[in-house]
Amino acid sequence: MANTFRAVTVSTVSGEGALTARFNFPTNVNVDYDPQGLSVKVIRADPVLAQEVLEFPVHSQSECSRVAGQSYIFTIDNETLFFKFASDADCQAFHLLVSKTKAGRSSSVFTVRTEDSSAMQYFQFYGYLSQQQNMMQDYVRTSTYQRAILSNINDFKNKVVLDVGAGSGILSFFAAQAGARKVYAVEASNMAHHAQALVRANGLHDRITVVAGKIEEIELPESVDVIISEPMGYMLYNERMLETYLHAKKWLKPNGNMYPTRGDLHIAPFTDDALFMEQYNKANFWYQTCFHGVDLSALRTAAMKEYFRQPIVDTFDIRICMARYTGAPAAPPPGVNSSSPSETYWNSIESTASLSNGQGVMLTDATQQYCSTPDQTIAYGTHPNMIKTVMLQEEFIKRIGISQNGDI
Ligand SMILES: C[S@@+](CC[C@H](N)C(=O)[O-])C[C@H]1O[C@@H](n2cnc3c(N)ncnc32)[C@H](O)[C@@H]1O
Repeated sequence: MANTFRAVTVSTVSGEGALTARFNFPTNVNVDYDPQGLSVKVIRADPVLAQEVLEFPVHSQSECSRVAGQSYIFTIDNETLFFKFASDADCQAFHLLVSKTKAGRSSSVFTVRTEDSSAMQYFQFYGYLSQQQNMMQDYVRTSTYQRAILSNINDFKNKVVLDVGAGSGILSFFAAQAGARKVYAVEASNMAHHAQALVRANGLHDRITVVAGKIEEIELPESVDVIISEPMGYMLYNERMLETYLHAKKWLKPNGNMYPTRGDLHIAPFTDDALFMEQYNKANFWYQTCFHGVDLSALRTAAMKEYFRQPIVDTFDIRICMARYTGAPAAPPPGVNSSSPSETYWNSIESTASLSNGQGVMLTDATQQYCSTPDQTIAYGTHPNMIKTVMLQEEFIKRIGISQNGDI
């Protein structure tokens, strides 16, 4: 993925315009994808001591310019750097990368809808191996995807697949296991570099191509037969990755397949006295009239509002649900596919859920695939169509109406 430019001389430019060599050894320049744009790295050109000696990002706001045929100038913090490339062709290739980055970002659907700082935080989070590991180690999640892919081999065998937000590339590997001819694993965080390393180490570089970048900004050489992704955030919409998943359909052939094809959001009211008291007591900090001699009580109401308007993402004991389902799990009605219940089916479950209780099962079916059993807390279902179920604080439920834009 990295573009390497050999024998690039790097100098600093003084206020008067005089050039002074920045390094007293030969250097190469690597240009790599970065969630903000590009990462430019100056590397010592030495087979033994090939260490990175300077790194800076290039994004839409970067101050830089091509100078004559072979040179480039950057202003970074307090330093002005002058790069002299080995040839006009190298400088032109470098210039293309930089100018694409500067132009591409301002027009992309992703950048229009996302603040730079929030995108940076978001992709930094997913750039950690530990975060990818968390998701991979969610056995129910990962094995359900693998099962969904491997049990539908006809959809994948010899097909071209797009993995949207590939992360570690785990879903791409499953697609390859199912016989995909080509998989494009698109990942916007720096995890793309690690995914590339895994692909190589697993000998799949001829079938899986890692594309570093945002789905909204990358180019693919062809349309695809299948799109796979795990785009579900809390309350389904959080992270707004569903929008990215749907955006990816521009690469899907007519009659192509999407995995998953639908997402269900389940909401249940509950009361939790202990949680209420916990929040209430925290807010009561502001009720003190003599905190180190200062009366804080003028802010108590504001503190209550703040604490009780926050969503709480957690797992809860299912017994605190106000609506309960009695007895054994309901069987899907005849003709309903138990691996993907219809809307009508879930609606019918909801109506039975209001029957007065016995066990703590809220939503289930005969296969127990979609939610936990009575003795567990609800956290995850086991079907990719409805992986995450989040129970909400009562106050938050009132806000659902205004959280349709995904900003939960
Ligand atoms: C929930 S993780 C799933 C990772 C992996 N597919 C898996 O199942 O383990 C979502 C991934 O999508 C990436 N992502 C989010 N928005 C993206 C976008 N617009 N373009 C490309 N990747 C994106 C994130 O960086 C993150 O690695």
